[in-house]
Amino acid sequence: MQALAEARANIALVKYWGKLDAALNLPAVPSLSLTVDALTTRTSVRFDPSRTLDALFIDQKPADPRALGRVSRHLDRVVGSAAANARMFAEVRSTNDFPTAGGLASSASAFAALTLAAVAAAGRESDPTKLSVLARQASGSAARSILGGLVLLGVGTPGQVDSSFATQVASEGEWPDLRLVIGIASEAPKEIASTDGMNQSESSPYYAPWTSSAPADIARAMDAIARRDLPALGAVAERSALRMHACALAADPGVVYLRGPTVEGLHAIRKLRARGVPAWFTCDAGPHPKALTSPEDAAQVARALAEVPGIQRTIIAAPGKGALLLDGQRVSASSFTPETRIA
Ligand code: DP6
Repeated sequence: MQALAEARANIALVKYWGKLDAALNLPAVPSLSLTVDALTTRTSVRFDPSRTLDALFIDQKPADPRALGRVSRHLDRVVGSAAANARMFAEVRSTNDFPTAGGLASSASAFAALTLAAVAAAGRESDPTKLSVLARQASGSAARSILGGLVLLGVGTPGQVDSSFATQVASEGEWPDLRLVIGIASEAPKEIASTDGMNQSESSPYYAPWTSSAPADIARAMDAIARRDLPALGAVAERSALRMHACALAADPGVVYLRGPTVEGLHAIRKLRARGVPAWFTCDAGPHPKALTSPEDAAQVARALAEVPGIQRTIIAAPGKGALLLDGQRVSASSFTPETRIA
């Protein structure tokens, strides 16, 4: 009836941007991300027969009705509708090891942890594929946080809910020599939610070329990963991020996530690269410049980003684990092979 799970954020190297089937939240493009060891969400779910409503606490505070509604809908999806008496109401408590209102708040770690905790609390069996299908319906990027290391999320087939799921390309231990440096450009919540930004981007004249060019980037990224070729992976990551933003910027009206420090961050990273430092820019639906680099160069890249006016602090993240069930403070023996029983 109760379970505690933990999941980490992921940062896409080949971006998910656009939906093939909005009702099922099937992505329009395949994406590839690195689950990181920073930015962790821990979520407990307790189904309680005496409750008459779901309750949600984020960082010990009651959450706003919109967040609660999204969580209730996800619990309905995972274990059945409470209104139809298919499940009990639940108390959900979620804590982040980063400021939730900081514009870094990631629906990926939140919905990956919630999915795993809810499935386990309901005593359901599952495996990473099914968990990622469930998490994806709440938020596309959450599907990828179910797994650790480098993770691929496929596009699927319209109308088929289980056709898009996450698969691990290389575990966190298989290519540990990667770092993502995040420059925090603003502590304010993001202005345009990714879902809205994606919907608006469909009006962009670059939307069709964006979606049709994505599979080639995935192929190049997969090849780079197979060869553990950081420069090749970095080049794909930088191009994918710039193309995603080009598509969004050209929408009607334009969707602008880039801020001064974001663009200056890009230039700082390219300047380092011109001096021989392996670092490639990426950026998501927010203002924070990020760089893919090596462990040896991460501190230097972080220093360069920290010097950009408007960058308030930096985080250096290494490849991280997938979602885990926690037994009290102890990680339970769920190693996440497809046979893993979660009960
Ligand atoms: C720019 O997963 O937040 O971070 O499925 O609508 O919830 P929804 O979108 P979300 O979008 C993430 C977009 C991105 C790129 C990425 O993570 O691939």
